[in-house]
Amino acid sequence: MAQNDIRVAVLGLGRLGLFHASNMMNKVKGAELTVVCDPLAEHAEMVAEQLGVGRWTSDPEEVFADENVDAVVIVTPTSTHADMIIKAARSGKQIFVEKPLTSTVEEADEVIKVIEETGVVCQVGFMRRYDPGFHDARERIDAGEIGKPIYFKGFSRDSGSPPASFIKNSGGIFLDCSIHDYDMARYLMGSEISSVSGHGRILINSFMEEYGDVDQAITYLEFENGGAGDVEASRTSPYGHDIRAEIIGTEGAIFVGSLRNSDVTVQSSTGSNHEIVPNFQTRFREAYVLELEQFIKCVKGDEEPRVTSLDSKINMQVALAATESFKNNGERIYMKDVHQDKVYTD
Ligand SMILES: NC(=O)c1ccc[n+]([C@@H]2O[C@H](COP(=O)([O-])OP(=O)(O)OC[C@H]3O[C@@H](n4cnc5c(N)ncnc54)[C@H](O)[C@@H]3O)[C@@H](O)[C@H]2O)c1
Repeated sequence: MAQNDIRVAVLGLGRLGLFHASNMMNKVKGAELTVVCDPLAEHAEMVAEQLGVGRWTSDPEEVFADENVDAVVIVTPTSTHADMIIKAARSGKQIFVEKPLTSTVEEADEVIKVIEETGVVCQVGFMRRYDPGFHDARERIDAGEIGKPIYFKGFSRDSGSPPASFIKNSGGIFLDCSIHDYDMARYLMGSEISSVSGHGRILINSFMEEYGDVDQAITYLEFENGGAGDVEASRTSPYGHDIRAEIIGTEGAIFVGSLRNSDVTVQSSTGSNHEIVPNFQTRFREAYVLELEQFIKCVKGDEEPRVTSLDSKINMQVALAATESFKNNGERIYMKDVHQDKVYTD
């Protein structure tokens, strides 16, 4: 460990937490992963052994009380985020938390207040802002390459559903999945969303009915700058993990993302084929490292997060409005009736 390295704990070692812990241990410069934590003690111990982390615990309180931890990476179920963030901030820990910030807007307000009071960094895991393709699109739009952005199309097709235990605490497909596309819609259109209408249906995963959730959804969006857009979410893709976006401008368009996992194409007498992106960890492998690298720079005071807790709250309000609209047969919901918060001004 170098003298200025930030001492980090990862809380929650599931689908994504294990990945973040491995990145923190092996790839992120300027950080030292010192503790891993998961209530499943055997799992925490196994992960510590597997990654070569010095300590593990099954109790998050131990992490918050630990003076040898400077920063926490919270990758626990969404329903626990508010409690975790507040305890971490009050213990003076710098915070990286996975999206969504919290489960409810009331919790988000409370969390933002505590972050402001304590002055800790709180970066939220909207990693698409760190994806080289999405970020390049933003820079080109800012440089005027497509004129004024007028239409956003985004879609996230997951290759199958997470288990019921995850769906139960996820907040539903609009909050868990489409929230990434709402974030990209705002980031790339450079405008706040003014209205939403949400629709959805269960196509395959009938177990979701118990949780009021669906595995296919679409949100129609309007923006304050006069633009429009649509966002599709699916947990039923039979062919791979497919994340793409199109931004149409008055003088051109930008398409982001592809189905290709590499530049290799295999030709044979039966045709031509290439590997398809299998999962989110592969699709966003660079973004997941870049966001944590920036978090460490923010903790050191060298940079500001590309995505703030206010952005995260607005994304959540859009997602909750889309969920409400879906529950009311697609009734259009105007964001001015829901919030006054803004990052982008027209
Ligand atoms: N940015 C992204 O692309 C992305 C992708 C997947 C998940 N996520 C987010 O990451 C979070 C976790 O998702 P996941 O898919 O890894 O979930 P998961 O269910 O696979 O893992 C959650 C882990 O947290 C542990 N846990 C539960 N309560 C805890 C507590 N109080 N303290 C410490 N650990 C606890 C569980 O034992 C489990 O190991 C969610 O908020 C989800 O929205 C973000």
